[in-house]
Amino acid sequence: ADVPVLTIDGPTASGKGTLASAVAIALGYHFLDSGALYRATALAAMQAGVTDTDEAGLARVAAGLQLKFTGHQIWLAGVEVSDDLRQEHVGAMASRVSTFPSVRDALKALQLSHRRVPGLVADGRDMGTVIFPGADLKVFVTASAAVRAERRHKQLISKGIPANIDSLRADLEARDLRDQSRTVAPLKPAEDAKLFDNSQLTVDQCVAQVLEWWEAKQ
Ligand code: C5P
Repeated sequence: ADVPVLTIDGPTASGKGTLASAVAIALGYHFLDSGALYRATALAAMQAGVTDTDEAGLARVAAGLQLKFTGHQIWLAGVEVSDDLRQEHVGAMASRVSTFPSVRDALKALQLSHRRVPGLVADGRDMGTVIFPGADLKVFVTASAAVRAERRHKQLISKGIPANIDSLRADLEARDLRDQSRTVAPLKPAEDAKLFDNSQLTVDQCVAQVLEWWEAKQ
């Protein structure tokens, strides 16, 4: 049988990354943060002086990414970039970079390669719709923009990164709009996805719900 895959898609700061990594730990599965690939492409492009309108250049950067994941650390060409990747301007560039079909194509094989025994939990925007359409369980996470801006704000402040909640909210709404309205792999739930609004739930409650759905599929 195929290696089991559980996909968790949703908008910016919806808590899907936290949820997906906790579910992966609970199941003893591998974890793919697909947004990190777009962020790494954005960072590598900025370092190489490739602009966000140069589709061919961006696709070359994506195809040549030298990425390594070790636990919670991410390395780009031998340099640890975990914190750099989380920066807002890198996320914003990632959102622009990810609109190009050739960039998405260039990153596809890398994403598929994470499907290894005993299983995979993948989080992103198009995990259930494009990359793993045959996934065993698909979850689409949402939360109100206000709640998401608040969460992102807390996250940044706790890391000592100064942040303004109103500009965070404006930025994440702009990014959602771009992710939803692009023609390739737009952000939208797969037809067979479980819709999951977690605005009022704790992380533990979210994990428990997803594990319950997973059990029910076995
Ligand atoms: O999830 P994260 O915020 O790290 O993703 C950064 C950007 O990468 C998103 O705004 C989105 O535009 C893009 N992305 C994507 N497809 C994915 C994951 C991320 O287009 N599967």
